[in-house]
Amino acid sequence: MISLAICGDNRGRLVAIEGMSDVPFPIARVYYVFHTQPGVDRGFHAHRALRQVLIAVNGSCTILVDDGEIRNNVRLNDPSMGLLLEGLVWREMSDFSPDCVLLVIADAHYDENDYIRDHGQFLDAVREQM
Ligand code: TYD
Repeated sequence: MISLAICGDNRGRLVAIEGMSDVPFPIARVYYVFHTQPGVDRGFHAHRALRQVLIAVNGSCTILVDDGEIRNNVRLNDPSMGLLLEGLVWREMSDFSPDCVLLVIADAHYDENDYIRDHGQFLDAVREQM
C-alpha cells in the first residue's frame, strides 16, 4: 500500500499524485472504473510488465491479489491509500459500492498483448520466472 499525502485545509482535501515521486513510475495512463453494476466482478487477469496503482477515490471495492501462491483480499476505501500492483499478479475486483470510483494509474498505454487472461497461463508464467 502507498500512503498519499493529503493537502487539507478548511476548504476540504486534495491529493496530488506525481510520477516517479508519489507513485514509483512515470505515469503514462489514467483510467477509472465507475457505475459498476451490483454483483459485477471485474479484472480476472494479470499483466506481464504493467505497473499500476489503484485508488478508490470514492466508495469502496475489494481487490483480490494473487501472486500464484498466496491470494489476499485488499479492501480499498480510502482516497489517500493506493494499492501498488507490479510483477506477475493476478487481480480480481469485486464488492464495488454503488458510488465506487476506482482510479487506476499505469506506467504504460493500453496493450492487450501485456494481458494474461487465463489463470492457468498465469500460473505457468509465474513458474517460468522462478
Ligand atoms: P477490461 O479489461 O475488461 O476491464 P477490467 O479489467 O476492469 O475488467 O476493459 C473494459 C474495456 O475497456 C475493454 O473493451 C478494453 C477497454 N480498455 C481500454 O480501451 N483502455 C484501457 O486502458 C483499459 C483498461 C480498458
